[in-house]
Amino acid sequence: MSLLSPAEGWFDKKVSKDEKSWMIIALLLCISMFIWMIMWHVYGKQNPSSITYRTSTAEFSKLSEAYQKQNIVGTDAGIPVVRPQPNSDVIVMAEMWRWSPVMILQKDQAYKFHISSRDVLHGFSIQPVNMNFQVYPSYDYVLEFKPTESGEYKVICNEFCGIGHHTMIGKIVVIEKEEDLKLYGYENFKKAPAPLAEKKNEPLTETEMVLLGEQIYTLKGCAACHKTDGSSQIAPSWKGLYGKEEHVIEDGKKMTVKVDDAYIDESIKTPQKKITVGFENTPMPVFPLTDEEIKQVIAYIKSLKD
Ligand code: CUA
Repeated sequence: MSLLSPAEGWFDKKVSKDEKSWMIIALLLCISMFIWMIMWHVYGKQNPSSITYRTSTAEFSKLSEAYQKQNIVGTDAGIPVVRPQPNSDVIVMAEMWRWSPVMILQKDQAYKFHISSRDVLHGFSIQPVNMNFQVYPSYDYVLEFKPTESGEYKVICNEFCGIGHHTMIGKIVVIEKEEDLKLYGYENFKKAPAPLAEKKNEPLTETEMVLLGEQIYTLKGCAACHKTDGSSQIAPSWKGLYGKEEHVIEDGKKMTVKVDDAYIDESIKTPQKKITVGFENTPMPVFPLTDEEIKQVIAYIKSLKD
């Protein structure tokens, strides 16, 4: 313990050679560990990063049902089998006690999984690769998945979720060529229908527009703030919104507008132009949607009647 100041010029005194080399070694070690921290993310064979969106079990259930209805190519032990297009969104539902759907994927093609739970916490673990995710209800986990080897993969639930936990085993089949389907007894399963959005030449029906609008609502994150059950905590609920008279503020002036196609279009493209009274503190970000997508969102909002 010292109550006195150190001797004059102590800071400029030469550090002994040993001490200096240890300091350099420690510094290099710190820097290399820091670099590895970043490199490990890429080379470390660990969980890939995922993006999470807020959703609700009701919304995700609806989405999952719509997805399976649209993409089903057969069933396996009572569970729908889908054959998603490469680079498409795949909706995966966890529930007591099954994973659905069964997926037929193409080797070396990327897919975007959206995973959520209908009831309790489950664990999404693809065997035998090291992939491990907790799947909570009300969250949409987005996971890029690109199988690099063909074969059958099991999806194991690794969070205890009740009496049937051990039976909760899903299936992902990765094929290289059409003949591989025979290995799994899937030879009669035809190709997945083209996604609705890619349907060429014929206009979409109203029902398809609503379905696509709902997908945008869930997948692009509108659902995080806009509810469809009439509750308006962060942003106006979409239920019964279409056709309603809304009080808004534009350039500091209060006015009333009717919610129609033009108003919704403007609100998506320039959300700060007219701000709904009561939501001044929760400004809406700009979502880059195409005009076509905006039309689908409008169709979805229209379908949500009071
Ligand atoms: Cu689901 Cu354990």
